Amino acid sequence: MSSRNIHVIVSASVKNRLDIVWENAHDITHFLFLHRKRFKQVEVLFDDGTFRAMYYTAKVLYPLPFANRYIVIRNILHAEHRVLQVYKDLDRGMKTFLDCSVFAEGDVVTIRNEFLFQVSGLLGRVPGFFANMVRARVMAMWHEDLELLHGRFDLGGFDHKSCAPDFRSLGADLRNFSQYMCLKDDPGTAHYSFMESA
Ligand SMILES: [Fe+2]
Repeated sequence: MSSRNIHVIVSASVKNRLDIVWENAHDITHFLFLHRKRFKQVEVLFDDGTFRAMYYTAKVLYPLPFANRYIVIRNILHAEHRVLQVYKDLDRGMKTFLDCSVFAEGDVVTIRNEFLFQVSGLLGRVPGFFANMVRARVMAMWHEDLELLHGRFDLGGFDHKSCAPDFRSLGADLRNFSQYMCLKDDPGTAHYSFMESA
């Protein structure tokens, strides 16, 4: 299948604090409630604070009901307020690269999203249309984020206890492997054992 590359930059500014906008830029715990129209499922596979691997399904053409499945890996560069991210579309095999940076000028904070998309099929023939679809999706999510950003700004930042949901990862489950395997001793667990000898 032929494909082409489409380069899109979408930036937005807001009067806010750098630490608040930066935290929102790399946080994913807000996806399933604030961006619930655009994501069906978000599962963290591994997260050590700097490197994060995720699986998610996204309704990229919301309000159309289609959902694409992605594996996503991101490198969170805290000192630079920057996230480097690679998405792989599991059905089409196409990749997207994102370089997201957050910076402040005075009391105005800007988030800059620079994408390089590999696009195949009909959408690859209409790059301007595709770029505007990306702009619309990023801006719709930005407007959903603004509610949270303004709320945190009004509350004075992060002096309040987080109410973010506990976002367990499969990596954490692996570290707690023996704890899960102890469930075999649970009275409600059904047991089967098979052996085949040649
Ligand atoms: Fe967001």
